[in-house]
Amino acid sequence: MNLPDYKEARKRNKNYKRIDYNIDKNYIGKYSGKKYFLKTYGCQMNEHDSENIRAMLEQIGFEETDDYTNSDLVLLNTCSIRENAHNKAFGMLGRFKHLKEEKKDLIVGLCGCMAQEVGVVDEIMKNYKFVNFVFGTHNLYRLPDIIDKAIIKNSQEIEVYSKEGDLVEDIPVRRENNYKAYVNIIYGCDKFCTYCIVPFTRGGERSRKKEDILKEIEYLVKDGYKEVTLLGQNVNAYGKDIYENYGLGELLEDVSKTNIPRIRFTTSHPWDFSDKMIDLISKYPNIMPSIHLPLQSGSNKILKLMGRRYSKESYLELFDKMKKKIPKVAISTDIIVGFPGEDEKDFNETLDVVKHCKYDNAFTFIYSPRENTPAAKLKDNVSLKEKEERLQRLNNLVNKYFLENNKKLVGEKVEVLTEGKSAKKKDYYYGYTKTNKLVNFTANDIKEGDLVDVIITDAKTWSLDGKLFK
Ligand code: SAH
Ligand code: SF4
Ligand code: F3S
Repeated sequence: MNLPDYKEARKRNKNYKRIDYNIDKNYIGKYSGKKYFLKTYGCQMNEHDSENIRAMLEQIGFEETDDYTNSDLVLLNTCSIRENAHNKAFGMLGRFKHLKEEKKDLIVGLCGCMAQEVGVVDEIMKNYKFVNFVFGTHNLYRLPDIIDKAIIKNSQEIEVYSKEGDLVEDIPVRRENNYKAYVNIIYGCDKFCTYCIVPFTRGGERSRKKEDILKEIEYLVKDGYKEVTLLGQNVNAYGKDIYENYGLGELLEDVSKTNIPRIRFTTSHPWDFSDKMIDLISKYPNIMPSIHLPLQSGSNKILKLMGRRYSKESYLELFDKMKKKIPKVAISTDIIVGFPGEDEKDFNETLDVVKHCKYDNAFTFIYSPRENTPAAKLKDNVSLKEKEERLQRLNNLVNKYFLENNKKLVGEKVEVLTEGKSAKKKDYYYGYTKTNKLVNFTANDIKEGDLVDVIITDAKTWSLDGKLFK
């Protein structure tokens, strides 16, 4: 048994090893005929981890089902970012408990970021004894072994490491989408924003070698993929831990030369977004003019308390530079309201920045105190009612700009990557623009994965309507 430990999780360990995934031959197909149900919470990194989990489960013989009542193994890949992500996962565990009362040999597992939390693992050991296994974000690749042990021993197997594990290449992957792929470029985060649990759940910043990333993308191109999203909690830090003069800019240039039609990257911290990056995005047509630039707050007082390392002024300077230099760029953001100490004046400063930036998309959250983070110790003097009211005011404002920006596109011709037929609108296809806007459009004789030109005919807050350009 290995339990999470925050003292270890805070340390940055430079001595991890780089290894290749290697599965014990005896496990291959061992559980064939058995079914698994996997539920994923959280960010794109977790979604991508689930693509690895699927492939590993299928290697040992399991087959996927979307009906958990009809499965032999249920697994939750969890997220710790806010309280409600926790509540959802624990709610699901409650349902599994009932199911297990009827189905005694059901195997229940939990992995992902919540597994790295001391309080969560304590709770599972005390009150969720029916959970068979827990493993963390640093030993995902050990899944076949951990599951096999849990099944054979029939005791609660907890294997969580708080130190960064080895950086493992060649973990099998079964991707959800045949045309768009996630590619990890850097793991972990060293920024330690005061409210955020990620540096504890995902460990220190560790970049993958450029050769491994480029090899993966070249395979994707051969397989007919049209888009890659380079993933990291803070992609701008790419390369700094392993190279002298090779960072995200250089990587983007090399990825661009693979001729994959569309390249995205997420998430960028405003603090180390270089001018070179801006030039590259405007120079290479296959680097998408779509940037996620989390603001969090427009008040310098709150930004300082959050440990964000930039001011409102430097954020706006960067924002304006992007808008000026990258033709038709779309910028999206994340904003937290109700951080401890945020008063009406601070909140209004956030609204002012939103009014200036008129974002194309924004993810807005009420601050949620997280276990072991510095902000959780700050006195929270904002009432829930006030927080909810601020969120509402903020949402009304951001939504207004989404619609305004979308309306500007009516009559324009845009390139769309077709994802398939719309489930909601009969005879419509759907796909995304270069700027990552959803378009529902009419067309004949096209198929999933086609890059097509579409004329925009109507604009809504969260989507556009259009027709194929002929
Ligand atoms: N690495 C990314 C953020 C990943 S988490 C970045 O720095 O941009 C995604 C978003 O969740 C954050 O941008 C933040 O807005 C929000 N978030 C993180 N911790 C939170 C907390 N404790 N309460 C509320 N929102 C939080
Ligand atoms: Fe969290 Fe900040 Fe790291 Fe983003 S940059 S993952 S908000 S600590
Ligand atoms: Fe959640 Fe972990 Fe991602 S906390 S947002 S799943 S890094």
